[in-house]
Amino acid sequence: MRKRQLGSSDLMVSEISLGSWMTYGGAVERERAEACVEKAFELGIDFIDTANVYSSGGAEEFLGEVLADRPRDSYVLATKLYFAMSDSDRGLSREQVFKQIDASLRRLRTDHVDLYQGHRYDWDTPLEETMEALTEVVRQGKARYLGFSEWPEEKIREAQSLDGVEHFVSSQPQYSMIWRGPERDVIPASRELGISQIVWSPLGQGILTGKYLPGEAAPSDSRAAHERMNYFMDRAGDQVLLERVQRLRPVAEELDLTMAQLAIAWVLREENVAAAIIGATRPEQVEDNAAASGVQLDAATLQRVDEILGDSVRWDPPASTPS
Ligand SMILES: NC(=O)c1ccc[n+]([C@@H]2O[C@H](COP(=O)([O-])OP(=O)(O)OC[C@H]3O[C@@H](n4cnc5c(N)ncnc54)[C@H](OP(=O)(O)O)[C@@H]3O)[C@@H](O)[C@H]2O)c1
Repeated sequence: MRKRQLGSSDLMVSEISLGSWMTYGGAVERERAEACVEKAFELGIDFIDTANVYSSGGAEEFLGEVLADRPRDSYVLATKLYFAMSDSDRGLSREQVFKQIDASLRRLRTDHVDLYQGHRYDWDTPLEETMEALTEVVRQGKARYLGFSEWPEEKIREAQSLDGVEHFVSSQPQYSMIWRGPERDVIPASRELGISQIVWSPLGQGILTGKYLPGEAAPSDSRAAHERMNYFMDRAGDQVLLERVQRLRPVAEELDLTMAQLAIAWVLREENVAAAIIGATRPEQVEDNAAASGVQLDAATLQRVDEILGDSVRWDPPASTPS
C-alpha cells in the first residue's frame, strides 16, 4: 500500500482510506464490519475516516471498540462535525466545536484524532469563530490537524489567510470519474494553499464497479437495493450512465484491472489527491479496492474513459447533501 503526504502536514496516509458512512455501526452487521476493518489493516490501509453524524454516533462507537487494541500510532484517524446531532446541536460555533470534539473522542475511545474536519461550511457562524475554536482544539492536543469537506473556494481561501490560527491541510470533496466538480476550483486552490484532497465516493457509491446493469433491478445485496443506504443513489437509475459504465469494462480488462480498481486509480492519478476514501460492506471489496494502490493509468486510457463517459460526467455541486 502506497502512502502520500497529507497537504502541508507531516502526516503520511495510505492512499486508500476506509470510510464508515452508513456502513459500520449502522447498516452492515457487526461481524462483517469488523472483518472489513481487519482486512484493511492487513492490506496496509491505515487511514480511517468517520464523522460524529454517521449512524448518529454509531460509526465512531464501533471504531472506538474495534480500534481499542491497536497501538494509537498505527493508524491515522479522521472525524468531522457540522451536521445535526440533536435539535439544538449543529454547526461550527465555538460551543459546538468544543462539545462535539469531546463527544467524538469519548465514542472513539482516544485522547486525540489526527484530522478534525468541518463537514460543511457553517453560514450561521463567523469564520473567525470557527477557526479560533478549531485552533484551540489543536492546541489542547485533541486534534493534530484540521480539514474541511465541501467548503466553497472563497471560504477556503479566507480561512487559509487568517492570522494566528491553524490552517487546513485537507479537503474532502466528492470526486470520481463521474463527479469532477473539484477540478474546477477546489483542486487548483488547494494546490496553492498546502491542502490535499481525500475524496469521497470514488466508486460513485458502487456504480463504477459495473454491478448495476442497465435495464435490470439493482442486485439485492447492493447499496441501491438497501432501504437504509440508498437514499442518495439517484444515479443508479440513470440508464445512459449505466450503459456507458458497462463500456468501461473492456478498458479495465485490457489492463488486467477490475472496474473498481480502474475507478480508484483514476482519482489517484491526480497528485493533489492524497487518498481515495472507499466504503466497503465486505472484506472482499476492501481487497479488490486496495489493489488499486500503485496502478498508473496512461494518457490513452484516460482519454478512452472520457470518450466513453461523455456528458455523463457531472461538474455541478450535489443537488442534495449527503454526509
Ligand atoms: N464528506 C462527505 O460529505 C462524505 C459523503 C459521503 C461519504 N464520505 C466518506 O467517504 C466514504 C466513502 O463513500 P462511499 O461509501 O459512498 O464510497 P464508494 O467507495 O464510492 O462506495 C462504496 C460502496 O460501493 C460498494 N462497493 C465498494 N467496493 C466495491 C467493490 N469492489 N465491488 C462492488 N461493490 C463495491 C459497497 O456497497 P454495497 O456492497 O452496499 O453495494 C460500498 O459500501 C464514506 O464511508 C465516508 O467516510 C464523506
